[in-house]
Amino acid sequence: MRSVIEALPGSKIREVANAGIGRDDVLAFWFGESDEPTPESIRAAAVRSLHDGETFYAHNLGLPELRAALSNYVSGLHGPIGVERIAVTSSGVNALMLTMQTLLDAGDEVVAVVPVWPNLTAQPAILGARVTRIALRPEGGAWRLDIGRLLDAVTPASRVLLINAPNNPTGWTLSRAEQEAIVSHCRRTGTWIVADEVYERIFFDGARALAPSFLDVSRADDRLIVVHSFSKSFLMTGWRLGWMVLPATLTESVGKLIEFNTSCAPVFVQRAALAALASADESVPALVARLKTCRDTLLPLLEAMPGVTVAPPRGGLYAFLRLDGGNDSLALAKQLVVDAGLGLAPGVAFGPEAEGWLRWCFASHDPSRLVRGVERLGRFLKL
Ligand SMILES: Cc1ncc(COP(=O)(O)O)c(C=O)c1O
Repeated sequence: MRSVIEALPGSKIREVANAGIGRDDVLAFWFGESDEPTPESIRAAAVRSLHDGETFYAHNLGLPELRAALSNYVSGLHGPIGVERIAVTSSGVNALMLTMQTLLDAGDEVVAVVPVWPNLTAQPAILGARVTRIALRPEGGAWRLDIGRLLDAVTPASRVLLINAPNNPTGWTLSRAEQEAIVSHCRRTGTWIVADEVYERIFFDGARALAPSFLDVSRADDRLIVVHSFSKSFLMTGWRLGWMVLPATLTESVGKLIEFNTSCAPVFVQRAALAALASADESVPALVARLKTCRDTLLPLLEAMPGVTVAPPRGGLYAFLRLDGGNDSLALAKQLVVDAGLGLAPGVAFGPEAEGWLRWCFASHDPSRLVRGVERLGRFLKL
């Protein structure tokens, strides 16, 4: 086995979940998904497709009608993006891996803004690339980027700059001005920007509830790949469907790469995605309103607790908090499961920069679960 594969760390979130095995009374907020199932109209489209016998291989880059619908959807959010810039992938994480495989040779340097969902930094490592981590810093509970430090770190030797915003786990989001500075800097250094924007519509500020996107400040020929997913905005985590927006010059090669990875996304899943996009104008704002209720239920309760540091996230599904004296987040998260029946993800799962922090996914169909979770935390802290 290759040594990098042997050295891959296991999921620390799973480790915490395993501490709760055999207990059915744990209130679990550790995974990054809602407890709401996919809307019925989306499920029905998949059932119809299977019923119609759509059980065959499809085009590497996705069904032409789904690529057209995605081009339309993304263009509606960010201005014209042609079909030739869209590739359908078997999940967001697959889109990320295809992106890394397209861009990285062993030994290449990747600069990554961290803490971040661990898959983003593990994938370059799997390919033998070196990852330089530029840390966001907490001020109170809010996380900030030192843009000067980031730009200093990105040099002509940097092949890829990896940024996830809105960020999992911190909720930090890039500003438009920061995006502009990054795009013009990377034009000078020739660095590819890989932007994970899977939470762009899970955003709680502004009239449009849409996070700033690199697509708004870039040209079609920029070295930019934006990664998206159906998982979060359409409640489709288990379906495994995503897409990439890429320069048209890369699309044919990515199609070849898809052939050697998954060959294509399943047709019935793509039909479900078409149904999801058809109702996006109503379903996404309604989902964001429900998630905002969850955020606005949980955050004031946590902020009012003595010994807890937290700030409302601008986007994403997570509250990221710190308990006074809780320096070993893995041990603390396990203790919370065993002693309090409260399931949170340990900050260290997202990098050493987040050691001592805990991630609480607030996406739930029932905000009263969050209130009960806070009560358990209060008892644990003996408040
Ligand atoms: C930042 C980020 N990117 C990508 C993904 C991948 O989403 P999926 O593979 O379910 O499409 C996730 C899932 O948690 C995520 O948090």
